[in-house]
This record gives sequence, C-alpha cells and structure tokens, in this order.
Amino acid sequence: MSDVSFDQKPQKAKAGPPLLACYDSLEGSYAHAWDMLVRGAKQARAPFHTPSVATIVMQDGIAQPDIRTVVLRGCDREAQSLRFNTDTRSHKIQQIADNPQAAMHFYDAQAKLQLRLSVTLSVLDGAAREAAWAATRPMSRECYQVVQSPGTPLAAPSDVAFDAAATHDGEDYFTSVSAQVRSIEWLYLAAKGHRRALFDLQTDTHQWLVP
Ligand SMILES: Cc1cc2nc3c(=O)[nH]c(=O)nc-3n(C[C@H](O)[C@H](O)[C@H](O)COP(=O)(O)O)c2cc1C
Repeated sequence: MSDVSFDQKPQKAKAGPPLLACYDSLEGSYAHAWDMLVRGAKQARAPFHTPSVATIVMQDGIAQPDIRTVVLRGCDREAQSLRFNTDTRSHKIQQIADNPQAAMHFYDAQAKLQLRLSVTLSVLDGAAREAAWAATRPMSRECYQVVQSPGTPLAAPSDVAFDAAATHDGEDYFTSVSAQVRSIEWLYLAAKGHRRALFDLQTDTHQWLVP
C-alpha cells in the first residue's frame, strides 16, 4: 500500500522525509520549485528529469487531452522557460501548431512534491535548434534516424528501419521545443499539513491555496 496520504487534516508526526525548509514560505516554495526544475534539466537521476507534457488534440471536432513523458533538456530560470527535444514528425508537433497551450506535470515521489505548470509551447528553429542538436549525445541521435514517422503502423516490430546517412545522422528530423511557463501550481504533501500554492508568472502573483 502507498504511504502517500492526501488526508487534509494534519497527522501525528511519523518517520518520513525531512520537512522542506520552505514549508511555510511562499517565496521559498517558489524558489524551491525552480531549483528542482533546474536540477531536473541537469541530472538524469533527478526526480524532475522526466516530466509529462499534455497537449490538446482535436478529434472529430472534440478537444481531447494527449499526454506523454519527455526528458527535460533545459531550464532557463531567468527566461522562465523549459525545453525538451523531439521528432519533427511526431504527433505532438502538429498539436503544438494547432494549439500551443499545454500543461507539464512533475512529481517527486520521495519529497511528495507535485508541480503542475501551464505553459505555451513553441518549436525551435534556426540557431536555437542547431544549438540543441549540438548538445545531443550520439545515443540520443539514434532516435531521429528512424526512417518511418513515429506512430506509423507496422506489420511487425522488426520492420522499423534506421538510416543514419539518409537522415543526416538524425538531424533532419530533430527539433527542440521551448515551454514558456505561465504558471506553476505547487502541492507539497506533509504529515504536518499539506501546502498548495499558485505562482502566476504573468501577473507576478503568488498565493497559498487550500490543498
Ligand atoms: C522515459 C521516457 C522519456 C521520453 N523522452 C522523450 C523525449 O524527450 N522526447 C520525445 O519526443 N519523446 C520522448 N519519449 C516518448 C514519448 O513519451 C512519446 O511516446 C513520443 O514522443 C510520441 O509522442 P506523440 O505521439 O504524442 O508525439 C519518452 C518516453 C519515455 C518513457
């Protein structure tokens, strides 16, 4: 059974992760959120390294959510933006073109900390895309050397084909997506009492909320 409880009432102290120093500090929580995002982009083992990105897809005139895991590749605290890499042929690229408003979800299971971000996505091109490509490792480049578009139906899984030469090492289908953060919703579960806050980056408003 999970030891994560969402009981609203403060519980008796029990063994668990130490309380975050920013527990009762709105500004401390905001700073901690960015610290975690910066670390997520830098460290493969960091809890925020693999967020979920949710976009909207139109199916028969009905807006449906679509969601997937990505690797966080960049976090620019000053610019309030994040970045992940992807294939230009992947479904999310058309979804971003149709509607750039998206959400990102981060969860640190040990700390019991969830961040929900409202973001505006944009597909990088020119020098920004080239810089992102230059920062990729050979192993990551292989993903973009696939000949068929991601999501193409296959008769057999072994039918998937890779061609480094035909795809210029994968660069032909590589791109990077920037996520401009509009708001961050913070939720920290603690036995002493949960803490929830909304940081609106557009109005520069920081506010505690009922968990
Ligand atoms: C751990 C993990 C990391 C992933 N990282 C990425 C990534 O950085 N970029 C990406 O496009 N897809 C990544 N994927 C695959 C996506 O989750 C998704 O399956 C793929 O991008 C196709 O999504 P789409 O059809 O919505 O475009 C990752 C999947 C996992 C499980």
